[in-house]
Amino acid sequence: MSTLEGRRIIVTAGPTIEPIDPVRFLSNRSSGKQGYLIAEALAARGADVLLVSGPTCLACPDCVDRVDVETARDMLAAVETGLPADAFIAVAAVADWRPAERHDQKTEKSAHTASLQLVENPDILKTIAGHRRQRPSLVIGFAAETHDVLDRARAKRLRKGCDWIVANDVSGDVMGGDENAAWLITGNNETHWPRAPKQTLAENLAAAMDDHFATS
Ligand code: CTP
Repeated sequence: MSTLEGRRIIVTAGPTIEPIDPVRFLSNRSSGKQGYLIAEALAARGADVLLVSGPTCLACPDCVDRVDVETARDMLAAVETGLPADAFIAVAAVADWRPAERHDQKTEKSAHTASLQLVENPDILKTIAGHRRQRPSLVIGFAAETHDVLDRARAKRLRKGCDWIVANDVSGDVMGGDENAAWLITGNNETHWPRAPKQTLAENLAAAMDDHFATS
């Protein structure tokens, strides 16, 4: 039997979108595939999975509860509503910035200069990793890097206060593609997961979490 059986695990996935006005927004290339596959792999091991998803074209995996959100602030609120949990995995490509102003009506070309003022979004991973009363015992981040992948991911794990980080090499066609290459950095160990289908990375992560809860 899996040690994930009945454990509550919250997973964020996909992009966030940050509206400028009713027809325009800022976003990124995340497809959500990796997060959805992780949610599916955890549910297959009996976990009680809450998937907090930005807009994607994907169907919700079997036996997974999904909450749909658009913005980073909505994503954080949905995760916090989902607590308490045994584990939290931040796979979403959260927009770091949002437009300072959200217009209620479509803005006109003539009404603006060509600049957009931005304000920083909350860091969901850092917020959950720093929760005083409801911090999940295992908090996992993803580090999407195009260069100096390991060094940047090690620093990001410490900066965000998460327990593990998956160092994800997103150079080339990873965003939106079907394969991924990564390192799992736990603080004690660094395990290389060579380029493989995203489903393999999902299975590897679920297996590592199973082992972790078996010994903790
Ligand atoms: N993340 C988050 N909330 C944010 C930004 C990022 O929860 N506002 C999470 C992502 O889900 C991921 C991790 O933080 O698990 C790292 O995301 P990444 O985009 O690699 O890092 P950034 O924080 O955006 O830092 P930088 O842009 O400097 O690389």
